[in-house]
Amino acid sequence: MRITRPDGTQEIDLAAVDLFDPKLYSQGDPHAVWHALRERAPVHRQTLADGRSFWSVTKYHDVNDVLRDHTRFTSAKGTLLSILGTDDPAGSKMMAASDPPVHTAMREPMAKVLSHKSLKRRSPQIRAIVHRMLAPLLDGGVWDIGAAAADFPMAFTGSLMGLPEQDWPRLAKLTTMAVAPSDSEFQEGSSHGTLVAAHHELFDYFSRHVRRHRGGDDLIGFLIGMEAGGRRLRHDEIVYNCYSLLLGANVTTPHAIASSVLALTEHPEEYRRLLADPALVPGAVDEGLRWSSPANHFMRYAVDDLELRGVEIKKGEALVTWLGSANRDEDVFSDPYRFDITRRPNRHVAFGFGPHYCIGAPLAKISLNLLFEEIVQVVRQFEVAGPVEHLESNFVAGIKHLPLTAELNDGAAGLLQAAQGRLVTLA
Ligand code: HEM
Repeated sequence: MRITRPDGTQEIDLAAVDLFDPKLYSQGDPHAVWHALRERAPVHRQTLADGRSFWSVTKYHDVNDVLRDHTRFTSAKGTLLSILGTDDPAGSKMMAASDPPVHTAMREPMAKVLSHKSLKRRSPQIRAIVHRMLAPLLDGGVWDIGAAAADFPMAFTGSLMGLPEQDWPRLAKLTTMAVAPSDSEFQEGSSHGTLVAAHHELFDYFSRHVRRHRGGDDLIGFLIGMEAGGRRLRHDEIVYNCYSLLLGANVTTPHAIASSVLALTEHPEEYRRLLADPALVPGAVDEGLRWSSPANHFMRYAVDDLELRGVEIKKGEALVTWLGSANRDEDVFSDPYRFDITRRPNRHVAFGFGPHYCIGAPLAKISLNLLFEEIVQVVRQFEVAGPVEHLESNFVAGIKHLPLTAELNDGAAGLLQAAQGRLVTLA
């Protein structure tokens, strides 16, 4: 998705706004639309040609209000626009599509194994994956960080889940098909057919993998043995949660990487600050997350008739929180369209808010920090070397292709060569 700086001069006809259309995010300018909505209609209703409708929530505090309160806004009917108006078959079976207490019972044990404390010891293996990703820079040619980043979360999540490495390329493609079924690069048949096929293959894959699982301390073994609310998870619950964990990691992390690197090439003074002081990496990672907001939206349904910012919402109506918009709310972020690696405070909602706050945030942050620590060691300067291509998806704000050339730091070649050929496993 293009990241623009709307100045309020664009003519936006609110009646014609279409936030459902995946093409808006590959070819259009969602930031201009969100800016207009925040100013003129912060809770705005859109009706699709087939009669389905949803409310768009674009202000930071309203987004937080919706995400924090499951008693008024439920996740159990589904949380993504792709299934607007149909009951999510994963409702109350998959953590992401459940409300407390079902949600809490699943989340508590999973959060322990996915905590910063449990995962920090995996840093050496994740650093080795980073080295493998950066190794092609040694060739000195054009490097597509969009394509390279697509494989990055698959490597650390695949290892964490104990999935065989030969399956990773197909799994990475399937998860992208599931969130961008109309993008011609990932399509297999029609958009609807692509979505159905991706879901079918992923669920079938995890169902067979779980049945064949013979124990061990990988994440799937943990889900199989784990107790939630005084009982083990059923087979379908395990499969849905495997799907959700892999999707959560694969479809978001690559775009935080590509968008952050693009922002650093567009703001070379910020990259120079990072080079001069690598201790700024964690702040840069957070600003990159706010800037890119890779998860565009999450949806909820109103549990009862209610009011939001003076607008009446009827029981059962869908509300879509636009995270990329909340992260540019000028009432919360000073100069929100400025990329500032030392922005403070930076309470962005790229990982959501409230009970469903991303359970993978510690893993995402550890791996993004390691990646940017290494990039700063290796690369003196990036330059964009070809057209940037954006993902066609209303759910993921993504960059598919970002061709770059890099000028390397002295000693970078030695560092990467020494790292090359290491055996990369997280087990
Ligand atoms: C930059 C990377 C990531 C971003 C931007 C991101 C974003 C988000 C957001 C916004 C939510 C809230 C969903 C809601 O409110 O309904 C969420 C939840 C979730 N994420 Fe992430 N995520 C990232 C990485 C990961 C990783 C690495 C994993 C896997 C380990 C993961 C797995 C999940 C799961 C399972 C949930 C549901 C949590 C719950 O319902 O309690 N995510 N993520």
